[in-house]
Amino acid sequence: MTLLKIARMGHPVLLKTAEAIADPKSRDVGRLLEDMVETMEDATGVGLAAPQVYEGKRVIIFKSPRERGEKDGLESDFSPLTALINPKFEPLDEELAIGWEGCLSIPGMTGAVPRYSRIVYRGYAPNGDAVEREATNFHARVVQHEIDHLDGVLFPMRMTDLSMLTFNEELKNLMEYAMGQNKSGADRDTQE
Ligand code: NI
Repeated sequence: MTLLKIARMGHPVLLKTAEAIADPKSRDVGRLLEDMVETMEDATGVGLAAPQVYEGKRVIIFKSPRERGEKDGLESDFSPLTALINPKFEPLDEELAIGWEGCLSIPGMTGAVPRYSRIVYRGYAPNGDAVEREATNFHARVVQHEIDHLDGVLFPMRMTDLSMLTFNEELKNLMEYAMGQNKSGADRDTQE
């Protein structure tokens, strides 16, 4: 296994549409996934998409830790570490929630991003099995964030209010300000 270099915002690899995988069970995909898991865990992230490690392929990994839901005061929606190949999602309804997101490709920054609260996602597991799961709240957010990476979209490009983009060190100050302004944002999300 190898620790991979993580592309940072501004590198064109993060702006391109990634290519579909022809064979989810291939050895190349297996190796890429092993390295992505090692890289994400080393960086203490909760999600990573292949373009973030300079591979323009439709492969993502993510997890939704149990404590996240409890911290948000929202219904906990746990997901163990999951690898998905050629993932897609659809919203289950139109409800959007604003939550704080970070990204391993945008180190040191956090922003408040609207995302669908409830989605269904589909894709393939590394053993070739089709996967279909429903997700809510943080689990739904991390999946939408990672799939966006496959289409060249970074979280600031989804923000509707750029005044809610901050350096991590200022997040507490911005959250207090936002509460006063009634601009919400849930709790701080971890790096994706
Ligand atoms: Ni990201």
